[in-house]
Amino acid sequence: MAADLWFDWLNGRRFGHDERLRAQVEAETARLAGRLLDHVPLPAGGTLVDVGCGAGLVGLAALARQPGLGVTFCDVSAPLLAQARARAPGGACRFIEAPATALAGVADASQDVAAARAVLAYVAAREVAFGELFRVLKPGGWLSLAEPVWRDEAQAVPAMAALAAGPPDPLKSARHKWKAAQFTGDAMAALTGYDERGLLMLARAAGFGEVHVRLEIDVEAAPAMSWAAFCALTPHPLAPSLAEIALSTAERAALEAALRPAVEAGSNWRTRRVAYVWARKPG
Ligand SMILES: C[S@@+](CC[C@H](N)C(=O)[O-])C[C@H]1O[C@@H](n2cnc3c(N)ncnc32)[C@H](O)[C@@H]1O
Repeated sequence: MAADLWFDWLNGRRFGHDERLRAQVEAETARLAGRLLDHVPLPAGGTLVDVGCGAGLVGLAALARQPGLGVTFCDVSAPLLAQARARAPGGACRFIEAPATALAGVADASQDVAAARAVLAYVAAREVAFGELFRVLKPGGWLSLAEPVWRDEAQAVPAMAALAAGPPDPLKSARHKWKAAQFTGDAMAALTGYDERGLLMLARAAGFGEVHVRLEIDVEAAPAMSWAAFCALTPHPLAPSLAEIALSTAERAALEAALRPAVEAGSNWRTRRVAYVWARKPG
């Protein structure tokens, strides 16, 4: 099966190709999908569209809660849609290759729930996607989102640049190059250019009436992992891994000396920011 950027990330780069880490990452994303579904009713015999479904995480979790649901899985990645299809129970499931900005094949006012987890982050024309999510919902239907918020990481990069501009220090310059590569540049503009308030405004502009927004910030120790896995994993599908970022030998050695003990011991702190949005179409 041909792989692509999205398939490669969900099936390898997200957890540094480390199968033990994969189980931990998948348990964590299952928890996030569960939180997303907690916010909306799943009516028996109703319909749900999982936009940017990936391997089917949200739609399959919804089916586990409400087996009679008619789920439409949509994604731009054919390999991921095939993976979702292989995992799905069949029955009333549909699989559509379509972007969030043009949900061709999903009829107007046909869905009780429209869900997306970690998808709108990657869509530059987010207002168009919100319009599509609104269009496919029945009057009274619910939108539920859980999106990563990376704005703070991007905004920290200039301060790192200022620190690195002082007396030569391989650790400071390595930290700056690492975070600049993963969170700045044209390719990251859409990803880092929004926050929970922006999502609220987009929902209101699309026509949603009732809207709820919660930003959850968790600072916690990352699971223990090998240094090789840490260097191979990436925080999001558009980011290069630490191993792929151009660093001098001195910079790489300084970073390894500073981080490796905590990475291997499971005491390396990380911060996760997730914006949950749930909103109802008037009707
Ligand atoms: C981070 S993954 C999340 C996948 C899945 N929602 C989950 O929670 O596991 C991002 C997903 O968005 C999809 N995607 C990327 N750009 C998209 C677009 N413009 N429209 C719809 N889906 C898109 C990718 O193919 C990928 O499946």
